[in-house]
Amino acid sequence: MASERIVRPGLEGVAAAETRLSSVDGRAGELVIAGFPLEELAGRATFEETVYLLWRDALPDARELEAFRRELAERRAPAPAVLEVLQAAARQKLPVMDALRMAAGLLSLGAGGAAPDDADAVLRLVAAFPTIVAAYARLLDGRAPIAPRPDLPHAANYLYMLFGAPPLPERVRALETYLNTVVDHGFNASTFAARVIMSTQSDLISAIVGAVGALKGPLHGGAPGPALDTVFEIGSAERAEAVLRGKLARGERLMGFGHRVYRVRDPRADVLAEAAERLYRAAADTKLYELAGRVERTALALLEEHKPGRNLKTNVEFYTALLLHGLDLPTGLFAPTFAVSRVAGWIAHCFEQQGQNRLIRPDAEYVGVKNRRWLPLEQRG
Ligand code: COA
Repeated sequence: MASERIVRPGLEGVAAAETRLSSVDGRAGELVIAGFPLEELAGRATFEETVYLLWRDALPDARELEAFRRELAERRAPAPAVLEVLQAAARQKLPVMDALRMAAGLLSLGAGGAAPDDADAVLRLVAAFPTIVAAYARLLDGRAPIAPRPDLPHAANYLYMLFGAPPLPERVRALETYLNTVVDHGFNASTFAARVIMSTQSDLISAIVGAVGALKGPLHGGAPGPALDTVFEIGSAERAEAVLRGKLARGERLMGFGHRVYRVRDPRADVLAEAAERLYRAAADTKLYELAGRVERTALALLEEHKPGRNLKTNVEFYTALLLHGLDLPTGLFAPTFAVSRVAGWIAHCFEQQGQNRLIRPDAEYVGVKNRRWLPLEQRG
């Protein structure tokens, strides 16, 4: 007899926990981070302030911020074992997300099992993610990693370790706006993966390694690279329609558009579009920014034609691509840079999961047969 249970593939519309970390209103197109509307926070806070806010539910005062900044800065240097693994991965030219996943696992070394409330491990994870990504990016290019500078803020140090010079303030601001914008976003796939692992009372580093694996997929964190590739492939505004129509006709998805939750424009797209525009203006070259705007408008019109009424709108990844490209990051670093930010959100969710833990264990509706009989090997086939 068929069961009356409702199956929700993808758990769409299912609220699996309460959270104070972020509120995602897909119909209104609103994102609130720890009580702050995104637009209020993203362009003002340093990344350290945002992390502190998420973890402690309040902005730090000057003394608390300085202490927190120091605690992170002194944990930046990658352990020798991490560097060895990164070197081995670079010899095989593995993607950055794979190297980050492997190196993140190694952060257990010296963490004594990283109990869920291990304060050192949480700081080390946030401090080490940009260090690992920057070191690996250089190794991939056949260059030596640059040692971190503890005197620089978190975002500035990331750019310093990538490019070898202290970055201009407008570049640091652009990166901080990006990091603040993507730090948390409800029960997205990677956050959910981290919370599932945490709910078994496993350790924090396992939860974060699982989350990195989830983020790697193109339907989650892997879209900005292809979104930018599309803009480059189009190259000039008058080709936009033909190229995008061709993609839709071949059944391809337009990267940087559509969202599981948002039915209107992703509010992060606006914040990042504005930050990207400021960055491109500061560099006195807005050609790519303008081309992207034309591609966006064409894509929106074609998506409405392709799926009328589905409201497929610009998502966070489209302007992420533009902003990170404006910071001279290669596309291979887009998803890892997302992880540099989101790791702080994952950790905040791990804390929250611990505080209200119930093993996450949904049901599945069995649709297979039930009356098979065993056949010895020689009678099969
Ligand atoms: N381009 C073309 N078609 C799209 C599309 C896109 N970007 N996004 C969704 N669609 C289509 C789907 O193919 C689907 O068509 P179907 O009904 O014929 O199968 C329809 O619109 C409904 O989409 P749906 O399956 O409900 O979307 P979802 O909630 O499963 O997927 C995403 C959400 C983000 C995975 C999806 O929009 C997507 O793949 N976007 C491109 C990748 C991307 O930018 N990811 C980053 C997300 S922040």
